[in-house]
Amino acid sequence: MMTLSEAIRHRRSFYDIKPKSPISDREIIDMVEEALAYTPSAFNMQSARIVLLMKNNHHLFWDTVKNILRQMVPADKFAATETKIDGFGSGYGTVLFFDDTDVVRQFSNDFPLYKDRFSAWAEQANGMLQSNVWMLLEEAGLGASLQHYNPIIDDSVHQIWDIPVAWRLIAQMPFGTPGKKPGNKEIIPVEKRIKIFGK
Ligand SMILES: Cc1cc2nc3c(=O)[nH]c(=O)nc-3n(C[C@H](O)[C@H](O)[C@H](O)COP(=O)(O)O)c2cc1C
Repeated sequence: MMTLSEAIRHRRSFYDIKPKSPISDREIIDMVEEALAYTPSAFNMQSARIVLLMKNNHHLFWDTVKNILRQMVPADKFAATETKIDGFGSGYGTVLFFDDTDVVRQFSNDFPLYKDRFSAWAEQANGMLQSNVWMLLEEAGLGASLQHYNPIIDDSVHQIWDIPVAWRLIAQMPFGTPGKKPGNKEIIPVEKRIKIFGK
């Protein structure tokens, strides 16, 4: 079992993912539910929402994204788009991250002193949730990436999966058994990005 420190260092954006999982659907669901329950949020607002799509639903999602893009991307450029989307679609599942805007509005009304801060806090908490899910997938041996095809896909997603109107789509995380490893990435020396006092 990976330590948290190992999962943080090993996590990458995996674009080559396979339609298999080293863990059961039940374990994937438990993992995502655990992240949803325990990730912190401002004022314990808990405005984040998740839709977990696996197997056929995952494939339907990426086919839907592809069909929407087909109408928007120039025909001569579509082949590259199609290859990219098919890469996500060839995974095992996708986590869709939403925010319940009714909850955020309620907190803004209830705490007028901070009313302008709640939407940013909701985004930050959602990012923390995305990170926790990504890390747990990594720990379980699944590769993932983070995608943003919203808002062009919002109407279709709400319609197909009957999502409440107040849920705003924020991000999409396709995952599966990792295939080809991502290339090296440049890491700016951390000394340039941190100041430490009191050593
Ligand atoms: C807030 C956020 C938004 C991102 N959006 C996208 C995206 O829309 N598409 C994508 O392919 N990668 C996206 N990424 C992934 C980053 O490009 C990637 O994490 C970064 O280049 C470092 O590479 P690594 O994940 O392999 O470590 C996003 C990452 C973060 C944290």
